[in-house]
Amino acid sequence: MEQQSIVDAMRELTGAANVVTAAADMAPHLIDWRKRHTGIAACVVFPRSVEHVSAVLAFCNAHGIKVFPQGGNTSVCGGSVPDASGNSILLNLGKMNRVLDINAQDNSMTVEAGCILADLQQAALDADRMFPLTLGAEGSCQIGGNLATNAGGTNVVRFGNTRDLVLGLQAVLPDGKVWNGLRTLRKNNSGYDLKNLFVGAEGTLGVITAASLKLFPKPRAVATALLGFDTVDAAVQLGIELQSAFPGELVGLELISQSEFEISLRHAANARNPFERTPAWMVLVELAASAGSNDALADALTAALEAPLENSTIVDAVVASSEQQRLDLWHIRHHVTEANGREGMGLTHDIAVPIYRIPDFVAQAGAALAEHYPQAVPVIVGHMGDGNLHYIAMFSHEYWAGVSDKMRMQSKVSHLLYDIAATMGGTFSAEHGIGSLHVEEMSLYKDAQEVAIMRQVKDLLDPNDTMNPGRVLPARNATPPSHA
Ligand code: FAD
Ligand code: LAC
Ligand code: ZN
Repeated sequence: MEQQSIVDAMRELTGAANVVTAAADMAPHLIDWRKRHTGIAACVVFPRSVEHVSAVLAFCNAHGIKVFPQGGNTSVCGGSVPDASGNSILLNLGKMNRVLDINAQDNSMTVEAGCILADLQQAALDADRMFPLTLGAEGSCQIGGNLATNAGGTNVVRFGNTRDLVLGLQAVLPDGKVWNGLRTLRKNNSGYDLKNLFVGAEGTLGVITAASLKLFPKPRAVATALLGFDTVDAAVQLGIELQSAFPGELVGLELISQSEFEISLRHAANARNPFERTPAWMVLVELAASAGSNDALADALTAALEAPLENSTIVDAVVASSEQQRLDLWHIRHHVTEANGREGMGLTHDIAVPIYRIPDFVAQAGAALAEHYPQAVPVIVGHMGDGNLHYIAMFSHEYWAGVSDKMRMQSKVSHLLYDIAATMGGTFSAEHGIGSLHVEEMSLYKDAQEVAIMRQVKDLLDPNDTMNPGRVLPARNATPPSHA
């Protein structure tokens, strides 16, 4: 179908005000957050209701028009921008951003998919509850995007991934049919658990339009510390001990290498080093409790740190003594992605291995990089409690500019690291998803039968391959994505 006919149809189905075609208005939606992936589309459509989404999907399915759903466009694996074909629509959920219900007694809230994550965190706090999903992009990512990617973040160690926070879902299937599974039951074994089909499907099986989510008691006490170590072995060992010491209170357990910490300090506005000398490795630990005081929780944490400080397992430590100091520590942690982008060309990886294998992974990955790519600086940050490392091979902008086949080099570096993770029973994709960037790895690193079942599910729900084609699985009529 001609682009103009697609635009006319979209205007008719959703109203002219909800269809954007001006190049300048479309531009921010056609390039990803890190400016590494670009695409084109006939228009950007902003549905305002589930009926709009249903009408758009039914039309596109009937006419073979590709639909690329978009939330806050913070994907770091090329999942949120369209492909290069142009005969497609970008469906941005940002105008479906109403909180439909908050029920403190039921510890639940029901929200539209386009709600910004930070707004939902605040809505929960206003109801004297907490919504625990927390990540650096929370000011712009949408809950629909979090659900579609099954996002992780810094509280997974206590509250699980987004999948674990979902009670019910509403989704529109590729042919426009609406599945209304919005419910807040804690128990419901009445057949297949359909919500988990759409969570983590990255928009390939349909569009998530609303969700019912779990809320938790608002924390009354928080204690946060940044601990320094000479070795990653010592950092991981202490992390494992803290998990046993504070099974109910440990909400965050993040690992940061010296290289990553200093990059964040260099580039994040108003970041200040709490240490006189940055240790080789750091662990950011946070405890939270629904009763008691900050001081009592900080005392309990300090007591647990006494012995490791005395025997020099921990070489330096800062326990936040105010909310501002706590926020300052998290500020450094949450700005790593932005800072890495300024520092150089970081080839980012999102691997996971069992937590006790982290030191082994770091050693083997470091040795492999030093041997094959001595120009790369290993920069490491990650959700240690989940065994999830963002292992970044950082190249200078100058070096990277001179690399002739960038795609090939990126793939070779990545496979070096993924091979090591695979020998440890690990994964090449822990929390960011597949997007368009990791489709090849699905066939290389995932069990063939698993991929075959996924293909069958995709073919069943989306036989015309109009829903986010080329993400997670190869498109049937592949148009390769452009890489900026
Ligand atoms: P988008 O990026 O717009 O889309 C992501 C995918 O979901 C795409 O495939 C899109 O088609 C699909 N999608 C979006 N909305 C819908 C919908 N309503 N229905 C169906 N499909 C949809 N990720 C983590 O897991 N943990 C982190 O700690 C983390 N930290 C980050 C920090 C920074 C600074 C940045 C830039 C990113 C970070 N991310 C992290 C990655 C990213 O924020 C998450 O993947 C997030 O969940 C994406 O949400 P979004 O609304 O921006 O979705
Ligand atoms: C983080 C993102 C990159 O953990 O997932 O900061
Ligand atoms: Zn992360």
